[in-house]
Amino acid sequence: MCGIFGITLDSETNLGALLRRALERLEYRGYDSAGIAVVAPSGVLVKKDAGKVAEVAQRLGFDHVKGATGIAHTRWATHGRPTQTNAHPHVDCTETIAVVHNGIIENYEELKSELIAKGHKFRSETDTEIFAHLMEEYERMGLSPWEAFKRALSRIRGAYALAVVDSKEPDKVFFARNLSPLIVGVGDRFNLVASDVPTVLDHTNRVIPLRDGEYGFITSRVIHVEYDGVPVRVEERVQTIPWSADQAMRGGYPHFMLKEIHEQPEAIASTIAGLEPRRLAEIAEMLLSAHKIYVVGAGTSYYAGLVFQLGLVSYKLAAVPIIASEYGTYEGLFDKGDTAIAISQSGETIDTIRAVRALRERGVRVVAVTNVVSSTLARESDLVLYTRAGPEIGVAATKTFTTQVTLLSALHMAIGRALGVDVSPQEAALKRLPEVARKTLELNEGTAKEVAEKMAANQSAYYLSRGVGMPVALEGALKMKEIAYIHAEAYPAGESKHGPIALVENKFPVVFVFSDPSLKEKLLNNVAEMAARDATIIGVIPRGDDVAKKLKYAFEAPHLDPMLNAATFVIPLQLLAYYTAIKLGRDPDKPRNLAKTVTVE
Ligand code: G6P
Repeated sequence: MCGIFGITLDSETNLGALLRRALERLEYRGYDSAGIAVVAPSGVLVKKDAGKVAEVAQRLGFDHVKGATGIAHTRWATHGRPTQTNAHPHVDCTETIAVVHNGIIENYEELKSELIAKGHKFRSETDTEIFAHLMEEYERMGLSPWEAFKRALSRIRGAYALAVVDSKEPDKVFFARNLSPLIVGVGDRFNLVASDVPTVLDHTNRVIPLRDGEYGFITSRVIHVEYDGVPVRVEERVQTIPWSADQAMRGGYPHFMLKEIHEQPEAIASTIAGLEPRRLAEIAEMLLSAHKIYVVGAGTSYYAGLVFQLGLVSYKLAAVPIIASEYGTYEGLFDKGDTAIAISQSGETIDTIRAVRALRERGVRVVAVTNVVSSTLARESDLVLYTRAGPEIGVAATKTFTTQVTLLSALHMAIGRALGVDVSPQEAALKRLPEVARKTLELNEGTAKEVAEKMAANQSAYYLSRGVGMPVALEGALKMKEIAYIHAEAYPAGESKHGPIALVENKFPVVFVFSDPSLKEKLLNNVAEMAARDATIIGVIPRGDDVAKKLKYAFEAPHLDPMLNAATFVIPLQLLAYYTAIKLGRDPDKPRNLAKTVTVE
């Protein structure tokens, strides 16, 4: 949460407009306040306020600010309410040092008391402001800005990505990373730092992802990185990112979410094209020889993990599904000889990273499934499988779920092959998946708009299914909650009789996911129960199935195989959530209180 950016160029430019554009990119990471700081001859010029980037930038005239070195921040409040004073950048008493920060400085209270005792005056309630005063304090003691920056860093504990400017060394942006993501963009006569790759792509496609504990400074011609006092040779770590800046933009769609929903056929096709059979076979062997298997993830990634966990049952393999933030409860199980599949789109979700660290400390081998090359998760796992969804900007995950399911289905097939099972029908189905996803989009957009009209009139809905359909129901309900703010609850259909059905009355919407034909008859019993209470029955069903007759509204998707169906049957539910949010006037790309990547526990 929170997005940071810092850039230094070799000559003066329309820096305010450049910083505004960077903030627009980063806004999905937090959007309750925005601000910039530009190095000026007499100190740092700060403009910041609560509100969305576009309105703050307009009101404060970001576009009129000129300069060569500056930092910017978009905030998602952790310490302190979203107000003008709590917005970043934060400055020291002399207003010559400005700081932007993503993360939490855990020991800020004790440092703040110490600095107040030394006469420092604080303006905000944030943990971040202490950093500016700490640097000021060390400069007062005679240290150079760079030395003061390093000394200040040595005093803080917690998670951070920091960017700092100091008008005493006007051509530098100081930076540091611990647990929160930070990337250096390598330019020609400029360099920059940013929280994510799409933001860097506006300027350069050459990046150096920083590692935990690294810090340094950039000038327009120098990138200096250290770890524990020792310079790091980062030139060897420069990577060229194949995404274009265009790919990271909306490309004609009103929202990133809708664009990303429509990108799914392509994202699935890229993921299939990128499959590495040998690596899949190696991981299949690891899983088959594991004492215990864990599947770990948060949010949507966890639900993709559930699809895999349920799929394993067909091979008589039991896996323990673990919601990443709950890993502590399971720690006692972790042991040498076990294997974990850790799933995270961003590869930066702190709960998933912490779970992976705990697993590896106890000797568990970890296989990462992620969308971001050289993310923390990718670096800290034993083996990595990449989804190739391209950048996902919408806060609600869409194409990353379908590509995760695609990849995990391919791994499932590799396990089957290792066991001598004939998986050729599934392989054939996998080949058809991109086309089936395209067809599913085409078949359901109109129905989604129509059903959204009804859905928007309700405050609650149930999403019911059985078997591998359950994670689809969970994911469908999650989308509805996240972006339409309708209380949507997913339940195993059979279990719905044990409580949830008490709420059902006239026109209560109940969405059934019929992705496994072998469970159709049982699900139809549950449909009858809900229909008897005058619920509005909505279903996602195999194309052409006569189940349609029992439903008020039917979404149809061509049938492939129960596990692969999870990747396509979810699509109508994504569309339904999207159009319901639109009907209700919500912004689906920036749902309230949510962040794309959760880097605080
Ligand atoms: C946040 C996002 C979700 C996402 C979850 C896990 O809550 O809003 O859309 O599913 O994090 O993210 P990850 O990057 O680990 O898949």
